Amino acid sequence: MGILTELLVPLQPLTGDLSKLSTPVFVAVATAAFVVLSVVLNVVQQIVFKDKGKPPVVFHFFPFFGSTVVYGMDPYAFFASNQEKYGDVFTFILLGKKMTVCLGPNGNDFVLNGKLAEVSAEEAYTHLTTPVFGEGVVYDCPNHRLMEQKKFMKFGLTTETFKSYVPLIVEQVEDYIKKSKYFKGPTGSVPLMNIIPEVTIFTASRSLQGKEVRDALDGSFAALYHDLDLGFNPMNFMFPWFPFPGNKRRDAAQRKMARFYMDLIDKRRKDPNAASKEKDMLWNLMDRSYKDGKEISDREVAHMMIALLMAGQHTSMATTTWLLLHLAEKPEVVAELWAEQQAICGQDPRPLAYEDLAKMPLLNNVIREVLRMHPPIHSIIRKVKSPMHVKSQNYVIPAGYHVLAAPGASAMDEKYFKNANEFDPHRWDEVEEEDAGEKFDFGYGLVSKGTASPYLPFGAGRHRCIGEQFANVQLGSIIATFVRTFTFSLPGDGKVPGPDYTSMITLPTQPAAINWKKRNP
Ligand code: HEM
Repeated sequence: MGILTELLVPLQPLTGDLSKLSTPVFVAVATAAFVVLSVVLNVVQQIVFKDKGKPPVVFHFFPFFGSTVVYGMDPYAFFASNQEKYGDVFTFILLGKKMTVCLGPNGNDFVLNGKLAEVSAEEAYTHLTTPVFGEGVVYDCPNHRLMEQKKFMKFGLTTETFKSYVPLIVEQVEDYIKKSKYFKGPTGSVPLMNIIPEVTIFTASRSLQGKEVRDALDGSFAALYHDLDLGFNPMNFMFPWFPFPGNKRRDAAQRKMARFYMDLIDKRRKDPNAASKEKDMLWNLMDRSYKDGKEISDREVAHMMIALLMAGQHTSMATTTWLLLHLAEKPEVVAELWAEQQAICGQDPRPLAYEDLAKMPLLNNVIREVLRMHPPIHSIIRKVKSPMHVKSQNYVIPAGYHVLAAPGASAMDEKYFKNANEFDPHRWDEVEEEDAGEKFDFGYGLVSKGTASPYLPFGAGRHRCIGEQFANVQLGSIIATFVRTFTFSLPGDGKVPGPDYTSMITLPTQPAAINWKKRNP
């Protein structure tokens, strides 16, 4: 207690004779004094020692915690209120980390097209993703390796594969609706968060991941997936070293799931009839090698398959849920979608094909509009490796900071989208494809640099999503099948529930229910 007693001497008039205090009371007084002192020093430091050469810091009382709670509760509201106070570029404290938010189209460009020497996605994400995906892939390898891995993944996402995927996805959705307890009878209500995670994982696994993975999801694979998913929580992002109880199960599940894929690879290699089997992503990744001659091990293939499963599942699940909620909000849009489908596939529509999806502009615009209002990823983060100069404001962001882009903020800004809060798929009727701008090859094929766009739900630059086309095929096929089967409405006040930001992905607040009515009971 020696040093503490010294420190508390100035508070003696308030606390009386310190030596008379019992240990618990003394510790409580000392802690309170420490907190008060650190708050005072923190506030003084923010007011007196402002560094004009760096982005302004969001005012906060508590060091270390900074703005963690306000940001975590509603990141977009936090961004908007600070944009008003500080402009498009400002720094806030997130559990001890300095996060510089760069808003607007220029901010999106600044972060997403940051140079390799300046920013690192690996260092921002690896703590969260490597225990889930496994070693040697995505953010657990040098960036040039990731670029090659993305190229290999893209080879498995061709028009040819998409053509075979559409009937498989439709079959899964129809089968699910037939068997689900939530769709018995001619009308009913369904909590979407209870069914959509299954619908998206069943459809993605049956198509992209392969029949064996889909079949395994009816058994022990589902529990493994669930345990692995526990690892995807924001606490692991902030405290990678903390032994959270779920992390042990995550690690065991990761090992077992990797083994499942490796055994599958082995089985396929030994199968003499293999060549005639369905082509899926696993086939595509097997037997590839890097430019420098290094072969991809079966373990790395397994880890890439897990990465694809996890990257696609959360994003597609969130988007499908928001899609159905907004369609239930606007039955007139569902009527239009149904008419569009009948015009292409006939009054009593024939089975949906990949080619049909491209001929349905409203279906595609409904997806675009939902991704504008609810992009699944609200904060895209990079660690700063060398000082970055923000020319417009003449700030320097030092190495060790993180930069954060939030394309979802500009996508909801009235400056770029009139009546931004209104779900209006027709706003896209006259808008050209977003990929019209400058293109660049980062090592996985030509992609739009997406420079300075307010609408970037799939990111931009070297880390841009490679799953966009697959997501459109999956989401389009699911929604088209729901529209064929049902009409929808919203229960209660008829309002789409607000967002819940507590997980890594922006989801609607539970239970996110919709009412349905079968077209042909
Ligand atoms: C990257 C969004 C579906 C695989 C990204 C990024 C975004 C994104 C914003 C960039 C992240 C960053 O820059 O840090 C979405 C959305 C989806 C979707 C909105 C669906 C609606 C998928 C699917 C797959 C996938 C279905 C797999 C089949 C990937 C991969 C990356 C990526 C491999 C690259 C990561 C990197 O290079 O760092 N996605 N995604 N995504 N996504 Fe998606």
